[in-house]
Amino acid sequence: MKNDSYLVLGNPIAHSKSPLIHRAFAEQSQQDIDYDKRLVPLDSFAECIRQLQSEGIKGANVTVPFKEAAFQIVDELSNAAQLAGAVNTLSFQDDGRIAGDNTDGIGLLRDLTKNHKLSIKGKRILILGAGGAVRGILKPLIEQRPSQVMIVNRTLSKAEELVTLFAGLFDLSSGSFESLVGRKFDLMINATSLGLQGKVAPVPDGVFADNAVAYDLMYGDGSKAFQQWAGQQGAKQAYDGLGMLVQQAAASFSIWRGVQPETQAVIDYLRSL
Ligand SMILES: NC(=O)c1ccc[n+]([C@@H]2O[C@H](COP(=O)([O-])OP(=O)(O)OC[C@H]3O[C@@H](n4cnc5c(N)ncnc54)[C@H](OP(=O)(O)O)[C@@H]3O)[C@@H](O)[C@H]2O)c1
Repeated sequence: MKNDSYLVLGNPIAHSKSPLIHRAFAEQSQQDIDYDKRLVPLDSFAECIRQLQSEGIKGANVTVPFKEAAFQIVDELSNAAQLAGAVNTLSFQDDGRIAGDNTDGIGLLRDLTKNHKLSIKGKRILILGAGGAVRGILKPLIEQRPSQVMIVNRTLSKAEELVTLFAGLFDLSSGSFESLVGRKFDLMINATSLGLQGKVAPVPDGVFADNAVAYDLMYGDGSKAFQQWAGQQGAKQAYDGLGMLVQQAAASFSIWRGVQPETQAVIDYLRSL
């Protein structure tokens, strides 16, 4: 009998580590599944989904730039996906319906709290950036009851929109990078894509409180500039987003297969490559 098949969809997709991660989870939990990657033309996401349904694919991860398109085409949305406005996990059901979830937020939270043993409760959190990823990570962070969450972004209106969107859940604040002068934070989360250019956002000196932690959603070379800068600025620890990547994949795997994989061995394996 044919194995259940899963995919990651994106454009570009060649760099994706998802097949390595999911195959490692499958081996670990002794499940016979196939997991591949597929490059989707920028204007053909809906067509690709119909094709996957006809192929009998069981599920798909969705990455840049299709998470919002995936949000639009699904028949059912989880709470997390609804709030994030984006879907990164598709489940194709036997009756033809498609369920959409978003595991980015839980992925970040599990990396922070389980892998890095950080407590969020009572912490002052600063988030750099206000793109799609931030929308996905806010709810799980807020649920840990930090004392403050501030969002700063180059385009201030996007940070302000998030403050309004989450107003019923938490009293977030927003501001410009300059408005950070004289403020202190316990946890800084970099969710800008500036690392792709080897750059760091224009955060003023002195914003790390004693024992503060810096976390970059990016990983690999794209995270080096931020981590180096955070160390120079006095952050006690600086982490990259590889653990989040593996944790969000683990949450997707668990939605599809009903098994929560062990992540640390897979994170160690990816770091060893
Ligand atoms: N580890 C993981 O599992 C994981 C999961 C999801 C995302 N990510 C990473 O998280 C990052 C953000 O993803 P996203 O989906 O939120 O991206 P996005 O929607 O494209 O948002 C990009 C953010 O970066 C800011 N930015 C870009 N260029 C800038 C510049 N020159 N100066 C200042 N700010 C700049 C944007 O500000 P404006 O609004 O002003 O344009 C925006 O806030 C990406 O690097 C992505 O790879 C990692």
